[in-house]
Amino acid sequence: MTLPGAPWLHRRGRSLWLDGVELDALARTHGTPLYVYAKRAIVAAAEAYRRALAGRAHLLCYAMKANSNLAVLHTLARAGCGFDIVSVGELERVLAAGGDAGQVVFSGVGKTRAEMARALEAGVRCFNVESRPELERLDEVARAHGVRAPVSLRVNPDVDAKTHPYISTGLRDNKFGIAHDEALAAYRDAAARAGLQVVGIDCHIGSQITEVAPYLDALDRVLDLVEAVEAEGIALHHLDLGGGLGITYTDESPPTPDALVRALLARLDARGHAQRELLLEPGRSLVGNAGVLLTEVQYLKPGAHKNFCIVDAAMNDLVRPAMYEAWMAIVPCVERDAAPRTWDVVGPVCESGDWLGRDRALAVEAGDVLAVLSAGAYGMAMASNYNSRPRAAEVMIDGDRAFVVRERETVRALFAGEHLLPD
Ligand code: LLP
Repeated sequence: MTLPGAPWLHRRGRSLWLDGVELDALARTHGTPLYVYAKRAIVAAAEAYRRALAGRAHLLCYAMKANSNLAVLHTLARAGCGFDIVSVGELERVLAAGGDAGQVVFSGVGKTRAEMARALEAGVRCFNVESRPELERLDEVARAHGVRAPVSLRVNPDVDAKTHPYISTGLRDNKFGIAHDEALAAYRDAAARAGLQVVGIDCHIGSQITEVAPYLDALDRVLDLVEAVEAEGIALHHLDLGGGLGITYTDESPPTPDALVRALLARLDARGHAQRELLLEPGRSLVGNAGVLLTEVQYLKPGAHKNFCIVDAAMNDLVRPAMYEAWMAIVPCVERDAAPRTWDVVGPVCESGDWLGRDRALAVEAGDVLAVLSAGAYGMAMASNYNSRPRAAEVMIDGDRAFVVRERETVRALFAGEHLLPD
């Protein structure tokens, strides 16, 4: 089987390596559960987009909700990326990692006044506004600060991204964006407000998209609007098509970033928009296959109907299988000779939904280290402390060197901010 994450993830003999580091040894050194990312894989993914965009006005805004570790942000800032953020917490992370607020777009349906004020003060590049009431609030906040807020309206193109319903966002029934047929009126409103400066338009249709066609449909719908808005004398400098490009978890074959970008540029050219600045907000496709989650087998519990392989990572560390029934590959860090048996790989959390993989063929013994693959995106970023479990440590690999980029959380830190009632 080709490993998702190849060539960075590969076998040397029986051992699994990420770039120049042997993962079993890494797990023994740093403990488990352990997230591990390959810096060179992240940089290569960003370069694949940027190569295809070369020569065009563009900005790649990493959707940092996928993985917001400061070392990941720093790596991507150095690779020339801006950021797509959805909270002030994310903005502060960008700044702490040395990123430039001027290359940040601020998305999200529920921005508070305080978040708007902080983002204006930091000087973000653009607010992706998702509703008329948000426009009104942003106008108010900007005027109170004596500035004009740069805005782009997130329009909902009503196209089917053909992905999991929880991560599909471009359909009429989703909470995201301004309906296509209400967007023109919203632009007129925005253009008339003293606290706002219209700078662009954006959309985002969903995540883990494995075809080019939904993007082209969305682009066509957005270009129709661009033309209608500009016909009224409202200039739209940039067009932001969001993120969403899928990765290979098992047998998906999504378009490469180059293929997607080429198709988008060709459509922009064909419709006479070659000059327009293109923004993209990829998350998963930059980091997903650059990372793995390492976990140690605690107990084997064979049974009459099911065999359980109980590991020390759980749904609080990696929630995607429990939440979306996502399939993520699970492989041993050191392969054994024995014949594989079928196991449900489950965590210690007290929920039947706490599983990482079902019906997996594995030759495994207690004490072995397993790797859950494609875990660089929406892994640690969605981790919680459920069952009072401290969150995992994170390591970034650069060539043959490994750096702890987040220490394992301590149990004490979990309740450090809690208080008993007075007697
Ligand atoms: N831009 C916006 C406005 C978004 O809402 C998202 C993701 C992205 C960009 C990046 O999408 P990506 O390139 O990563 O697909 N937790 C789910 C995925 C949720 C995605 C939410 N929005 C999962 O684990 O599959």
